Amino acid sequence: AAKQGPRHFLDIADLDAETLRKIIDNAHAMKRAGKRVPADLRPKGIEDCVLVLIFEKPSTRTRVSFDVAMRQLGGGALTLNHDDLQLGRGESVADTARVLSRYADGIMIRANAHATLAELARHATIPVINGLTEKSHPCQIMADIQTFEEHLGPIKGRTVAWVGDGNNVAVSWMHAAVRFGFKLRLACPKALYPEAEFIDWVRREKGNVEISTDPNEAVKGADCVVTDTWVSMGQSDAAKRKKMLAPYAVDAKLMSKANKNAIFMHCLPAYRGHEVSEEVLEGLQSVVFDEAENRLHAQKAILAWCFGG
Ligand code: CP
Ligand code: NVA
Repeated sequence: AAKQGPRHFLDIADLDAETLRKIIDNAHAMKRAGKRVPADLRPKGIEDCVLVLIFEKPSTRTRVSFDVAMRQLGGGALTLNHDDLQLGRGESVADTARVLSRYADGIMIRANAHATLAELARHATIPVINGLTEKSHPCQIMADIQTFEEHLGPIKGRTVAWVGDGNNVAVSWMHAAVRFGFKLRLACPKALYPEAEFIDWVRREKGNVEISTDPNEAVKGADCVVTDTWVSMGQSDAAKRKKMLAPYAVDAKLMSKANKNAIFMHCLPAYRGHEVSEEVLEGLQSVVFDEAENRLHAQKAILAWCFGG
């Protein structure tokens, strides 16, 4: 039989429903366990493992939560900015992957291009984790699923509304809707719909995902309303986007059209008065800081899966 490769965590779409379910169950257990992760939740040999974190773009949550997660699991982490590496001077991704595989036990990368992540995973002999690319943000949505379930119970069969830019975070929500079996309604300006490859993927997988341009329709009967910044890292057409997205701002009036006990989520950083009003972000329905906290717990569960292979 062929040797099994490393357990990469590149996209929610790549994993089967059962594995994903186990990771979320583990994330709940990690949270209950707190800082000192008990032996039964720790992958064997983690104390000898070091995770390298590479950042081609800024980060607060991803950077700190991965570093702290590794320490709490009993391993170590090393944070590297792209420009500090020879990668920044033209060393190839393939060579970087092979060299880092000789020193470290895992790589998390926040990459400008999804192709860089894929190339790294192709050449690394250790697990590679997607810490956000221009196409997706799977670790964020694992924390979001955990957050949803904490507040409202199992996500299967429930309804989530995405209002705003059909961006990287929206794509991981689409992947999650299919794998976790919930309904996702996206409302985005036509020009900012998620890329066709993802819409096609959802269709092929027979996912319960609807896309329209109408925020009111999307939030009707939703258990959770989600949005994100109008201008993602690396995008230059800020003025144009703000104009297109103005009708998609999440305010109290829009939230009132969702279910009474609906929660509001945002991966942060948030821009008050743009994609979300101060009132909603700071209001009783907002769970954004639980969501931020859960990056830590969900990632401990992801790391345990990656290193448990
Ligand atoms: N939500 C999120 O990924 O935040 P950072 O950019 O701060 O890592
Ligand atoms: N869509 C945002 C998410 C930031 C965590 C971006 O890519 O900048």
